[in-house]
Amino acid sequence: MTKNFAHRGYSGRYPENTMLAFRKAVEAGADGIELDVQLTKDGVPVIIHDELVDRTTDGKGLVKDIPLTQLRQLDASYIYAGQYGVNPIPTFREYCEFVQDLPIITNIELKTGVFEYPGIEEKIWDMIREFRLEDKVILSSFNHFTILRMQKIAPQLKYGFLTEAWIIDAGKYCHTHGVPCYHPNFRSLTHEAVRELKQYGLEINTYTVNTEEDARDLIEKGVDILIGNYPEMVRSVLAAGSDHSAS
Ligand code: G3P
Ligand code: MG
Repeated sequence: MTKNFAHRGYSGRYPENTMLAFRKAVEAGADGIELDVQLTKDGVPVIIHDELVDRTTDGKGLVKDIPLTQLRQLDASYIYAGQYGVNPIPTFREYCEFVQDLPIITNIELKTGVFEYPGIEEKIWDMIREFRLEDKVILSSFNHFTILRMQKIAPQLKYGFLTEAWIIDAGKYCHTHGVPCYHPNFRSLTHEAVRELKQYGLEINTYTVNTEEDARDLIEKGVDILIGNYPEMVRSVLAAGSDHSAS
């Protein structure tokens, strides 16, 4: 059965990568949450997508140049013009506290494609252990060296290679590196690509699936996880599919 993951939380309706968006994703019936992790100037893991705070907050500058106390003053929902009050950039710790007793799988995307954030792998692993989330996380990154580094530190966790490009022999590539999940842009998932990935026994977790038509197509192809901005929509597509197969 295909699973329904909320991309940056319920980001289609709420400010992305905020605790509000994560809570709303759970309320919407998502099976999991995808989020992006970077480090502040003082090395604290925080949840934000861009390297710059400019697009999603009322501040300016690079996450890596701002200490936590200063970063926490910013409003990550300011583009909603007060509709949802003030929502700070969450720390990864705050998220772990929230999710630790929920039946939610978290796809932690390590945003190390521009800045490598040395030591981020150890910090995330320490927190996964502290909150006993070992069986409830999938680690992914566009930086595949990050994945291999973290896999060495914590081989018991589940890992995925993220890609934007249309990779040739992606199943073989993941298999060669002992990585069990492949996280491609959904547009690259042709029938042939899915067949090759399944041949290697890979789990296919794809983003960013925002329309009913694409969701139906990918469910039919047997994709494992749909990562999208509208978890309520994906839930109803999945429910309609199971109604159909039961009748
Ligand atoms: O992890 C899936 C997706 O989030 C990757 O792209 O840019 O939205 O982080 P991006
Ligand atoms: Mg992401």
